[in-house]
Amino acid sequence: VISLQIQGEERRAVEFDPDKPELLLLNQLLLPDKISFIRIRDYAEAADAITRMVVRGAPAIGATGAYALALAAHDSSAQTKEDFSRELSKVKDLLVAARPTANDLRHWVDLVFLAAIQEATVSEGRAKAIQEAVRIAEESAAECRLMGEVAHHLIEEGMGVLTHCNAGALATVDYGTALAPIRRAAEDRSFTVYIGRTGPYFQGARLTTWELAQENISHILVDDNAVFHHMATGEIALVITGCDRVAVNGDAANKIGTLGRAIAAKYYDIPFYIALPRTTFDENSPSGESIPLEERDPNEILYAWNGPRLAPEDTPVRNVSFDITPKELITGYITHQGILSAGELPTAFS
Ligand code: MRU
Repeated sequence: VISLQIQGEERRAVEFDPDKPELLLLNQLLLPDKISFIRIRDYAEAADAITRMVVRGAPAIGATGAYALALAAHDSSAQTKEDFSRELSKVKDLLVAARPTANDLRHWVDLVFLAAIQEATVSEGRAKAIQEAVRIAEESAAECRLMGEVAHHLIEEGMGVLTHCNAGALATVDYGTALAPIRRAAEDRSFTVYIGRTGPYFQGARLTTWELAQENISHILVDDNAVFHHMATGEIALVITGCDRVAVNGDAANKIGTLGRAIAAKYYDIPFYIALPRTTFDENSPSGESIPLEERDPNEILYAWNGPRLAPEDTPVRNVSFDITPKELITGYITHQGILSAGELPTAFS
């Protein structure tokens, strides 16, 4: 199974060449119509690309942050360990602030920072930052494959499976989280993936459709408000979404609209699973209440995607981009260790 095939080649949304070193990002703002990679020269360009959603999806922005900090370490002219650590600490803060909700960004950047400053010399720290970023990314890619193995049995022949936003290869280092069991099940079963458009960035309409089409996995794009209708008719029998941050008690932050889908799934008795990588679990958030929810530029709501203004200019707008699904609505968490209950998460991820 090729997770991201671009012009006949296996590629990744976030590519890093440790020898140069060089970071390339697939510009997700241009998909599905244009395939174009952007070369990121420094951490400031990486932070900007994360904020503008050139790259998006929790593990993909985690990887971008990790590689960007590695670039900053490589480029550093610090002579002492103290200066090196101070410099990287500032870069780390800037990268982490680029998007607040996804735990992966904070976590991956922290891991690279700690690895770099623990080395005995600045020059060893520079090399270590690159090694650590590559190590976490490859571990994450392998973890996604395991999620597919762990959970593909949930998907039965002929089923309708709802996902939300994009939690595929574009949102990760490789293969995807919510799309991992879907990719794996498609190796020997036919079923249909339901995708809502996902407001306001249309990750469902633009990205998930594109990924599934590449692999000939049957899918149907529906309006965001139509997913509940397709639950009521029985066409959707399973829900699998990704997540951006999961609290210790199991409450899960994910793309706005996840909460409504979980409430409806409960009403219609449809199993609702969250695919959870270890770097998305936040041991510092006891419950969903302490998860920061990103509120983005109102113009993303006020204007159609690359189009005209929809409402009068002075219309008050709020653009909350994530919501919290309480643990009571989540049937199980798909992890590389198996499908876990909320109560099993703290031990599994400690
Ligand atoms: O705003 P986005 O596109 O970064 O939001 C992405 C999601 O909500 C995904 O479901 C989540 O990051 C999981 S990605 C494997």
